[in-house]
Amino acid sequence: MKTRVVASAFLGAAALFAAVLGLPSPAYSHKPITTSILFKNEIAQIFQRKCFQCHTENNLSVSLTTYTDARPWARAIREEVLERRMPPWQAVPGYGHFTNDISLNTREMEIILSWTDGGAPSGVLKVEESIPPVFVPPAPAWDHGPPDHIMPIGGGHAVPAGSPFELKRFVVPTNLASSKRVRSIALKQGDRRVVRHAAFYDEATGRWLGSWTPWQTATMLPEGLAVRLPAKSRIVVEIGYSGADQDVTDRSEIGIYFGADSGTAVEALSLRAAAASVPAGATSQRVRAETKLSTPLTVVAFWPDPSPSARSIEISVVSPADMVTPLLWIKDYRPEWRSPYYLSAPVTVARGSRLVMTTYFANPTDKTEPARAQAWLMTAGPLGK
Ligand code: HEC
Repeated sequence: MKTRVVASAFLGAAALFAAVLGLPSPAYSHKPITTSILFKNEIAQIFQRKCFQCHTENNLSVSLTTYTDARPWARAIREEVLERRMPPWQAVPGYGHFTNDISLNTREMEIILSWTDGGAPSGVLKVEESIPPVFVPPAPAWDHGPPDHIMPIGGGHAVPAGSPFELKRFVVPTNLASSKRVRSIALKQGDRRVVRHAAFYDEATGRWLGSWTPWQTATMLPEGLAVRLPAKSRIVVEIGYSGADQDVTDRSEIGIYFGADSGTAVEALSLRAAAASVPAGATSQRVRAETKLSTPLTVVAFWPDPSPSARSIEISVVSPADMVTPLLWIKDYRPEWRSPYYLSAPVTVARGSRLVMTTYFANPTDKTEPARAQAWLMTAGPLGK
């Protein structure tokens, strides 16, 4: 109750201040403030954790770092958050916990909605509304500090203004003199406005090595686990680009973080359905892929990689006694927001169990289309507890 009074006193002061200076009064001043949640406190902190990866100057989308920047978007923020479109995390809550989860928890969501519905107050004087109340991460940086090995990706890739989302593949020679154990591969964007995600594959074998997103918070493999990269490997880097409002030449780099010399090797397992096709007009065509395990294994991470017409993806373990344990469920698949899913606690799957993936596809066109139902899994042998 006390804070609420303070909040409106602040706004009252701001309005008075504006009136004295003859400034136009803000368009929203008629909306009564009915919340104690302030931009300068709770909101800026949540945005710092969950939005500034993409919503700052010269980044993927509009800046939300100051009250002046964010206030006009209050209604849009309400809608994006409520519909769970922002932040762009696609796993349905409650099915698996992931270290790189950037979604809003229930409390964060309630705080944001209370703010947008309660008049979206700033908590600062009008003159201070264009100053960010919290630290804003500077231009592109490496996720885990300086990597052990850095490689440029080609000579610069041109992304024309307004170009639609597309995947581009580059081959990057590592020039590694000896084989290495790798705990993480990261990307540093050349230009943050156009890079949405990246995936890394070993060119010789095609196996998945890891993926990157702008919110790459925790995709280091757990201590002791590492992917083996042979000497002289070449890495295929697949980048999802989306045009900005200007022509851009992207010069991104990849960085490798080495692991300890010994430990458990992580392998890649491809869960893939036989070639499937989706009839014209289909809205939910089901495609199943399944692998029965002849040895026990531990699942560490997922990289769903279906064709863009996928609508939902479910990956489960089915035990020999037919007990189903869901590991990952993506309900509204958005191909331009692909993400890896690194399990907080790797899951050990018993011998004789099946890994089952069910993908639903839609086809709004008027002719039959091919569909690829595929996901990569990072796996290790059974891990001792
Ligand atoms: C990984 C990057 C990323 C993160 C994290 C992110 N956004 Fe976004 N956001 C975008 C992009 C890019 C767009 C532009 C629309 C699109 O391409 O989907 C967007 C669009 C929006 C829009 C609609 C703006 C418009 O143009 O209509 C709002 C509002 C928004 N985001 C709010 C948020 C909030 C609030 C958070 C944090 C709670 C957040 N976003 C987190 C990338 C991100």
